[in-house]
Amino acid sequence: MNIALGCDHGGIELKQEVKDLLEKAGHTVNDVGSYSNESVDYPEFADKVCNAVTEGVSERGILICGTGIGMSIAANRHRQIRAALCHDAVTSRMSREHNDANVLCLGARVLGISVALDIVQVWLETEFAGGRHLRRINLMG
Ligand code: RB5
Repeated sequence: MNIALGCDHGGIELKQEVKDLLEKAGHTVNDVGSYSNESVDYPEFADKVCNAVTEGVSERGILICGTGIGMSIAANRHRQIRAALCHDAVTSRMSREHNDANVLCLGARVLGISVALDIVQVWLETEFAGGRHLRRINLMG
């Protein structure tokens, strides 16, 4: 899968861990930055990842900031983006099964590395359940 990956300065270290995991699993990573610890504005990177998904360059996206909150707010302003801020394997699995989340948001300052990587792994492996959940997604336009 081609996966767009972006972060702000709060997510630099975790982005590299996620990138390594994705590449080891055979995915193609579309890394849109940020690339340093210099302070940047998270909406800029949320827009880059979401545009890659909505334009079909990437199938899904992953966004990382300090809490994941700013990234999820910014990402969900894009039509056709269903961004889920996940805290554990349960929320990750449900975001795929019930919400068909196409963008995953992570908070690097509130998650340990192994929990964050577990979230990513589950999110990549879980299929959308469809059925009544598709009807609900369609109601959001
Ligand atoms: C940056 O300091 C921080 O505000 C940002 O990473 C994020 O947590 C915003 O929601």
